[in-house]
Amino acid sequence: MTAHATISPMTAARNGPLGGRLRVPGDKSISQRALILGALAVGKTRISGLLEGEDVINTSKAMAQLGARIERVGEGAWEVDGVGVGGFRTPAATLDFGNSGTGCRLVMGAVAGCPITATFDGDASLRKRPMRRILDPVALIGARPLAVADGGRLPLTLMGARDPIPIVYRTPAASAQIKSAVLLAGLAAPGATTVIESEASRDHTELMLRHFGAEVASEAEGPHGRKITLQGQPELLGSAVVVPADPSSAAFPMVAALIVPGSDLILTGVMMNPLRTGLIATLREMGADIEIVAARDDAGEPMADLRVRAAALSGVEVPAPRAPSMIDEYPVLAVAAAFAEGTTVMRGLKELRVKESDRFAATADMLRQNGVAVEIAGDDLIVHGKGQGAHVPGGGLVATHMDHRIAMSALVMGLASQRPVRVDDAAFIATSFPGFADLMRSAGADLTE
Ligand code: S3P
Repeated sequence: MTAHATISPMTAARNGPLGGRLRVPGDKSISQRALILGALAVGKTRISGLLEGEDVINTSKAMAQLGARIERVGEGAWEVDGVGVGGFRTPAATLDFGNSGTGCRLVMGAVAGCPITATFDGDASLRKRPMRRILDPVALIGARPLAVADGGRLPLTLMGARDPIPIVYRTPAASAQIKSAVLLAGLAAPGATTVIESEASRDHTELMLRHFGAEVASEAEGPHGRKITLQGQPELLGSAVVVPADPSSAAFPMVAALIVPGSDLILTGVMMNPLRTGLIATLREMGADIEIVAARDDAGEPMADLRVRAAALSGVEVPAPRAPSMIDEYPVLAVAAAFAEGTTVMRGLKELRVKESDRFAATADMLRQNGVAVEIAGDDLIVHGKGQGAHVPGGGLVATHMDHRIAMSALVMGLASQRPVRVDDAAFIATSFPGFADLMRSAGADLTE
């Protein structure tokens, strides 16, 4: 089980407007999938712009343990020689995914379709997260858990299916991780594997499977859902993958620029997949000034340069069906809401309770610690905004609970609040956004260790 050796507190303070052109690191979801699909493909996959954060590095190690050849050939440039669908070998040691639910759950799916046995583990945060959501569908496919910690958690040992069965599966939560695990397990099954989701979640797995040569159909299901069908036993062919900048990382400088008066920032190459842009839609409804200055397409994913200028924000109601398209962005949206005029109501946040921390509680605590009034009503989070300018008191010490996004959100808040905001541990930021502090400092942020 991995752990960070040192705890690294960090403080953010007000320091004038933010400016410049920033490129945040590569998208985490796409980076994870590029390594996993590269490992399941025949031939060489060349990845550029890979996120070299701890979560993705852990997945790269797991792919090597399962038999793929992985090589870093330059900054963000990685090559993967895959083993082919169903070709993973039994790893000699435990697969350690550190802090990453996505890495762990997607690889559980991929292993479930192979005739091998593997043990999965992670850090104290990942050991608290539910894994039954993956064990249940992969059992239908024919995989068998041999040992599972209490409550369906890590560490667990999974025996993959010798003869995987194609299934039709309705996901119990709007989760791209569940959908992806089922599709990856279904790769080795004969015939069609179908996943039905009542609310569409990010579709990077479907897009990338197609890019590698699989036949994947996707159609609307009800008002917000999708039905995805994968034809099993495709020959996946090693491919080139260009990883765009991560919109979930761009969210932090974006909100910082909106709430720090006088800011004017350009964020380059940000992925604009419509299933990931819920935050931008919400911020615009709040009155944000976010301009698309250059839009283009790369490797099947839309991307754009965004110009963000400080703006007066107003509270809004964020409907529950929007949650999947901004599920990782609620903590930083809550910060924007604290600096807005009026009340913001975020509905349907149940899934936030099972992220790297109980993000629902952690987000509410982060705001309360800094003098912002918050209410929790069932699965809804209500933030009473203080208005534009330095009306948010700040001055709090925020408990990050091994959660990178709580750490970055709290630091963004400190850039515009009356008094500095301190986080107990910024070390986990390296799971998704290595270089966060330096990049923010290059735009003018006052962050001190
Ligand atoms: C992810 C899916 C989401 C998200 C996570 C990345 C993915 O999780 O929170 O950061 O890459 O598939 P859920 O599938 O649990 O919603």
